[in-house]
Amino acid sequence: MPNLVKEILSEIGIIELYPPQEEAIKANVLEGKNLLLSVPTAAGKTLIAMICAIKHVLERKGKVLYLLPLKALANEKYEEFKILEKIGIKVIISTGDFDNIEPYLINYDIIIATNEKADSIIRHKPSWINRISLIIADEIHLLGDGSRGPTLETLLTSLRLLNPESQIIGLSATIRNANEIAEWLKAVLVTSNWRPVPLKEGVFFKNNIIFKDGSILKINETSNDPIISLTIDSIRSGGQVLIFTGSRASAVSLAKRLSEPIRKLLKRDEERKLLELSSEILKIGERNRISEILSKLVSYGVAFHHAGLTYEHRRIIENAFRSSLIKCICATPTLAAGVNLPARRVIIHDYRRYEPGIGNVNISIMEEKQMAGRAGRPKYDKEGEAILLARSENERDFLFEEYILAEPERIWSRLGNSSSLRSHILAVIATGLAHYEEELIDFFSRTLFAFQYGLHSFKKRILEVLKMLIKENLVEERKEKLIATKFGKRVSELYIDPLSAIIIRDNLRKFNSNTTAIEYLILICKTPDMLGLPIRKKDLPILTKFIQNNFIPFEIPYEDTPEYISFLEKIKVALMLNDWIEEVHEDKIIEKFDVGPGDIYSFVENAKWLIYSSYELAKLFNYNEVINPLMKLYIRVENGVKEELIPLVTLKGIGRVRARALYSAGFKTIEDLKIASPSSLMKIPHIGPETVKLIKEQVSKL
Ligand SMILES: Nc1ncnc2c1ncn2[C@@H]1O[C@H](COP(=O)(O)OP(=O)(O)OP(=O)(O)O)[C@@H](O)[C@H]1O
Ligand SMILES: [Mg+2]
Repeated sequence: MPNLVKEILSEIGIIELYPPQEEAIKANVLEGKNLLLSVPTAAGKTLIAMICAIKHVLERKGKVLYLLPLKALANEKYEEFKILEKIGIKVIISTGDFDNIEPYLINYDIIIATNEKADSIIRHKPSWINRISLIIADEIHLLGDGSRGPTLETLLTSLRLLNPESQIIGLSATIRNANEIAEWLKAVLVTSNWRPVPLKEGVFFKNNIIFKDGSILKINETSNDPIISLTIDSIRSGGQVLIFTGSRASAVSLAKRLSEPIRKLLKRDEERKLLELSSEILKIGERNRISEILSKLVSYGVAFHHAGLTYEHRRIIENAFRSSLIKCICATPTLAAGVNLPARRVIIHDYRRYEPGIGNVNISIMEEKQMAGRAGRPKYDKEGEAILLARSENERDFLFEEYILAEPERIWSRLGNSSSLRSHILAVIATGLAHYEEELIDFFSRTLFAFQYGLHSFKKRILEVLKMLIKENLVEERKEKLIATKFGKRVSELYIDPLSAIIIRDNLRKFNSNTTAIEYLILICKTPDMLGLPIRKKDLPILTKFIQNNFIPFEIPYEDTPEYISFLEKIKVALMLNDWIEEVHEDKIIEKFDVGPGDIYSFVENAKWLIYSSYELAKLFNYNEVINPLMKLYIRVENGVKEELIPLVTLKGIGRVRARALYSAGFKTIEDLKIASPSSLMKIPHIGPETVKLIKEQVSKL
């Protein structure tokens, strides 16, 4: 290894390689051999990827693409890789919108991106794509995920077709058919059960933990609530606890139950620091019931963590847990697949989880192992413990058989029956990866799906979808040559489902200057790219009333059909977005629609993307009457404001709350702000000296 690399490694605390890392080196990964590294969590997979990346950049002058499933993970990886800038390697994270071309990426050596973002980058065919010489697919077991696996699968297939000479490294948790996935990747497989901190898996029953190796640990019964005893036991001996629950509600209620007992264990200075953290939490975003509960619990040294929280709140909780300030996090399973957050003891409170439309289901062994794998903090603990809870002897035996002693499931490609197939077929044609039917089939014959199931029925399905794309004018067939139409090309770049694009195209045509905001919102919510919100009993009267009293620009499905329910789920989202742009307070939205601030944010992001896409398609089809309204709607959704606030929110530092405050005080336009005296602005609620300065700087240039 070059000295330069050794220096970097010692700087991040690496003196010698872990055994699985040595094996990877022995498998000639540094000589360019493809590798599938399927080892437990925290076994040091990143390092192998990093050493290879350095080699590619310094020796082959190649570009490296590092793929991850989540934005949070991409950020974490970027932070880790930034150290390479010291040796002149340029690292960047690509997180922009899907339609953003980001021409500067050409200047970087290592590009870190989510799978979806990378997939969208390819669709714009940047000139540097052929210079990628190393592809790293982290958390590659995602291939088996029904909703997101197909994107990763076609992305890898495209990248390998575009760069046949490139090296590929897959990083994965332990999976049963790792050899099959390796074979598909034409990679050497390195597997191992080795972990830097040993993991003891067990079941808790009647105050005893029975471990896999037969040993038994008696837990002090500090409470008649077993989960409290189990948590306190670990914290008392200096550990931290991560508890996985089946739902957001149970994560919150469990954190509440644990708060008093945990508070009693806090030291003085910890209490003080937690109070500071608690008030910091309230300062972020609009104050609402969720941030209030979170803030209160944090002052007790416990927190809950789920996708309904804002990104900022989640990061604060994670960091405070890492610095041992927060003693216990009650989380939904999203955390298991997320950032690096180890605990001495992991408790899997629920092995059943509610799936909309199905009911309660047992989580997969793979998921259980991912959660369990969070246990054991390198540098802090000698071992980690992962514990399932049993309420009866039968259940104890069941948990041992079904989880603790069981091997994770096989990974199966989900591409064949996936609705995303139409999107990928269009992309393959639009990016010129296939010009003829045979080439299209050839492309899909390289996928994991074809590798696992063969091509026979798959081919039929592909041709059916192709026919639909041709019928809807996304693809043209000229003398057997397949060409994406302007429409098809743009849809592929916009990264929306072709079906969404068809719905948008066919309905925007009917819209005119009288169309209201809610009608646009219903349109984007109707597309398959927008998820629905679950319907509760108390929603029904509101939704039904809305449907009866308003013009719905679509056919309404028959009542008592599954289609009707999913229609209502979409209407619910449209109504939520409408409240958002009518400036309803966040807290009210949270209560009315049973969502968290994090959900509002992700629905808003998604809506922006679909409104932008609608705008682009309106331009393409010359639907001139809707272009302006769509642009205004975009700004309103982005900021959560009524139309009259649009000029004010275009200023940096002015969100919906401040804009409303300015407007109410009579400052309604940029002109008003230009002539306003700083002292008069300072008197307005939510407007401090900093903001006034920011406003004045900006308006003086306009
Ligand atoms: N050889 C080594 N010596 C000391 N520390 C190491 C070594 N290799 C990796 N580490 C450290 O171990 C920790 C876990 O490594 P890494 O994030 O690569 O795990 P991983 O295998 O990707 O696990 P996960 O499945 O959780 O993503 C990191 O903090 C890393 O710095
Ligand atoms: Mg990792």
